[in-house]
Amino acid sequence: MNKSATRIVVVGSGGREHAICDVLVREGYRVIAAPGNVGIAKIAECTDLDPREIDAELFVIGPEAPLVQGLADELRAKSKLVFGPGRSGALLEGSKDFMKEVAAAANVPTAKYATFTEIEAAVDYLSKKDGPYIVKTDGLAAGKGVLVTSDLDAAIEDVRAKLSGASFGDAGTKVIIEDFLSGREVSVLAVVDGERAILLPAAADHKRLEDGDLGPNTGGMGAFAPVEWFDESLQRQTMDQIISPVIAELKMRGIDYRGVLYAGLMVNDDGPSLVEFNVRFGDPEAQVIIPLLEGNFGKILFGAADGNLGSVKMSIRGAGAVIVMSAYGYPSSPRKGDKIVGLSAVEEVPDIRIYHSGTSLDGEGNVVTSGGRVLGVTAIGDNKDEAIERAYRAVSRIEFEGAHFRRDIGVGR
Ligand code: AMP
Ligand code: GLY
Repeated sequence: MNKSATRIVVVGSGGREHAICDVLVREGYRVIAAPGNVGIAKIAECTDLDPREIDAELFVIGPEAPLVQGLADELRAKSKLVFGPGRSGALLEGSKDFMKEVAAAANVPTAKYATFTEIEAAVDYLSKKDGPYIVKTDGLAAGKGVLVTSDLDAAIEDVRAKLSGASFGDAGTKVIIEDFLSGREVSVLAVVDGERAILLPAAADHKRLEDGDLGPNTGGMGAFAPVEWFDESLQRQTMDQIISPVIAELKMRGIDYRGVLYAGLMVNDDGPSLVEFNVRFGDPEAQVIIPLLEGNFGKILFGAADGNLGSVKMSIRGAGAVIVMSAYGYPSSPRKGDKIVGLSAVEEVPDIRIYHSGTSLDGEGNVVTSGGRVLGVTAIGDNKDEAIERAYRAVSRIEFEGAHFRRDIGVGR
């Protein structure tokens, strides 16, 4: 394959898409991001065109929203090669009720649950349970639809807010209440070609805003990969008990799933249990997993999109760590417009990648904050400790007013 003549369109504008573009460009492909971001614009072409209007050899759809809306189906209907599931498969993330139903049909270990649309029935169910309580919005809620609490009154209040439509409008008019799972959390991303799957190196996300896993839930404040304790035996169990049965169940329902199947797992003495499915690369997980795949990544994407993963051999290098720098006020009301300094010096350090998510250019061409999670500062090393140490060294050289980051990424995990 002549890579420089092979066009890959990457749909999206976050840190995940920056990581996807970065590694594909390093592998020699011609990458077009739609729409891309300030960081991607430095390494690849960015376009405001609708992806349906672009011609390319492969389309990679980054975020969940266009997948749930059926962009992959529309592109496939035009005979395009696409990495990313169609609408029916994307419902695994778009509806927690559907996800739980598929998991039950495939006999996947997961927390016991019940689904409600009526406030009184949900409150009654909660009141008869022991805590901690888990209340989840059925539909997409940008990572903010889940409450975990030991306080029954808070759980009841959350159910009322969600089911009345006050929290998430239509996305929240159905809730799932499920049993609490204890254990260690890990993000396991499988790449699926409709029939077969390969597991990418497992990653540990850090969802809470503050050190020590305190503060509100966020989209993710940092991650590292691989996760050493998630050993071969756990990987095999995950494949045999969760990923393979779900692919088979989907196939039986006529769903040809091609793309990432991201399993959020809780692992304890009973083995892995499924907490959630996402239908895309996680973010920030993508920012540490994908750089480890350099040299294989394009082949993996083409293999999955083409139903031909059997011919793909995967090798990974070293370990990766990412520290997310977030804006003042994140996650409730991130401030925009703070000028970011120190980027260019750090970008030149080998094995450091600065992935942009919430940035824009001001009138004078300065890079400024424009979203909650601003930058992912990724480092590659021979092992986890080296990667984390390098990533923090890079973070210390980047500044903006009100910048926040966790200082304990990787500690105790
Ligand atoms: P989710 O969006 O479903 O991944 O939920 C967000 C976070 O809530 C997860 O990453 C877990 O930390 C926590 N969580 C969700 N479901 C459960 C559960 N059944 N037991 C314990 N923690 C959970
Ligand atoms: N980092 C969690 C997610 O991408 O959903």
